[in-house]
Amino acid sequence: MPFSTADIPSLAGKTFMITGANSGLGFESAKVFAQKGATVYLHGRSLGKVQEAIAEIKKVTPTANLFPAVAELSDLASIKGMVANLDIRQLDVLMLNAGIPFVEYNLSNQGIESIFHVNHLSHFYLVQLLWSLIVKSNTRVVSVSAKPPLALAALKFDLEEINNQSAFSAPVAYANSKLANVHFTVGLAKRGIHACVIDPGPVSTGIAKKMTASGVLPFLGRNLGFLVSVKVEVGALTQIFASVSDKAIAGTGWTNKDQPWDLVKIPTFKEPDTETLWTFSEDLLRSKGF
Ligand SMILES: NC(=O)c1ccc[n+]([C@@H]2O[C@H](COP(=O)([O-])OP(=O)(O)OC[C@H]3O[C@@H](n4cnc5c(N)ncnc54)[C@H](OP(=O)(O)O)[C@@H]3O)[C@@H](O)[C@H]2O)c1
Repeated sequence: MPFSTADIPSLAGKTFMITGANSGLGFESAKVFAQKGATVYLHGRSLGKVQEAIAEIKKVTPTANLFPAVAELSDLASIKGMVANLDIRQLDVLMLNAGIPFVEYNLSNQGIESIFHVNHLSHFYLVQLLWSLIVKSNTRVVSVSAKPPLALAALKFDLEEINNQSAFSAPVAYANSKLANVHFTVGLAKRGIHACVIDPGPVSTGIAKKMTASGVLPFLGRNLGFLVSVKVEVGALTQIFASVSDKAIAGTGWTNKDQPWDLVKIPTFKEPDTETLWTFSEDLLRSKGF
């Protein structure tokens, strides 16, 4: 049965935090949760962008309880600073939504390839920082992955290889980061966290215009993606569903057809990689002083 926002009960008294909430899927999710009465922390990289998003939502829901959370995700220090300023006692849902698409080779503030850093490591670090709150609150952690690119994925657990510019391919880096989202979900579920992962399918957001890398796939995404994309109100339903539905139990994946996504059937999913990625991510953070 298709899921709609009418299926969402009142969320009054619940607290949500969404990364990348100033635009696209994250913004749409924040809007819906606010309409249902939730308190929402909207993360963005600039206070101005988040304030604009909050003002937009307040046009629809003037009484909405909305707070900004500002961090540049390609800088671990910025994430640490954001968390230090948060005052959340109970966090019901943490939506790890922010992401960058097929962008050109770039290094983050900590000297880590930016797609891997922003799409995986930043969220891994955020969860480490919020760990005691997540455990205490029984927070549901929803990661926004992308299923079709996973066929290209070949995870690397060596910073030199991840950072190797001569071997860099934006679609493969994106695929690896999105496979990392799946492994992270499985790793969280193994540790008793109510974690789910979703694929929104192609959705009309600003992301296509951000595909700055050269090559066929970025070109197609930038110029023709809109032909197969659904409106953001529809595209956001999968992550909204995973955030609120009783069906979305820990360790499950969901697609835009409201169907369970069988994680173990992903061709590139190798079970031991879940723990290897976890340890690699912890070690990498430590080696960078975080
Ligand atoms: N749209 C699709 O077709 C599609 C398909 C599959 C998966 N996804 C996934 O869905 C998620 C949301 O994407 P979207 O389509 O809604 O695109 P979007 O509108 O570009 O939203 C991405 C969000 O992430 C934020 N972000 C990116 N890099 C950041 C950084 N370094 N620091 C802080 N914030 C950062 C963006 O902030 P700025 O606005 O400041 O850049 C924006 O708020 C992504 O993880 C994407 O991979 C999307």
